[in-house]
Amino acid sequence: MNVLVTAGPTREAIDPVRFVSNRSSGKMGYAIAAAARRAGHTVCLISGPVALPAPRGVEVVRVTTAAEMLAAVQRRVRSCDLLVMAAAVADWRPKQPARRKLKKQDGPPRITWEPTPDILQTVAQRKTARQIFCGFAAETHDLAREAQRKLRAKNLDAIAANDVARADRGFEADHNALTIFFADGCVRQVGWTTKARAARVLLRELAAYADRKKSENIFEK
Ligand code: C5P
Repeated sequence: MNVLVTAGPTREAIDPVRFVSNRSSGKMGYAIAAAARRAGHTVCLISGPVALPAPRGVEVVRVTTAAEMLAAVQRRVRSCDLLVMAAAVADWRPKQPARRKLKKQDGPPRITWEPTPDILQTVAQRKTARQIFCGFAAETHDLAREAQRKLRAKNLDAIAANDVARADRGFEADHNALTIFFADGCVRQVGWTTKARAARVLLRELAAYADRKKSENIFEK
């Protein structure tokens, strides 16, 4: 199987030395890429700026901004069987980054923001029946409702929701707990565990969903 994974944050420039980003460490996405490779798949990992080594046997494409990540995903998505978007893409970017460093003595800058492209929503519009797309939802509250809204809005097969309000899981931590919502209504819990094990369980659950989807297609024909 060809597996495409995204990981880490994106950085959106304010001026040549400053940017807006988020706390994503990339650990969850790297763990998914490593687990998929160990399971025998061909894996491409599109990574925002993180301080992690490339998982063994995985092709790593390094990007900085949401626009670069979109272009990198678009180049590879057609040939993938499974896309897991674990990246924490910045939601907004300065509309016009300053070309020269903003001077502190000029006071706080007035920045006009614009939304970044929604990568998953963009590529999911052309999802084929054989492809499985899984998103992540990092939430501090209303986890189930928000995750299910995103699952539908972005035309996904699955979304793995995790709580980022607690220090022992989610952003930057080595552990995580996931609730995986599937398009066929199934919900699976992955209790608090290492990100390596959470990644293995997520891939197993996605494979089980793919089997359910295939057998449904057979009955529809
Ligand atoms: O930011 P949000 O909670 O909507 O993210 C849910 C999913 O959408 C994640 O898998 C994330 O990688 C993806 N996303 C994206 N492009 C964005 C924002 C989020 O692909 N601009």
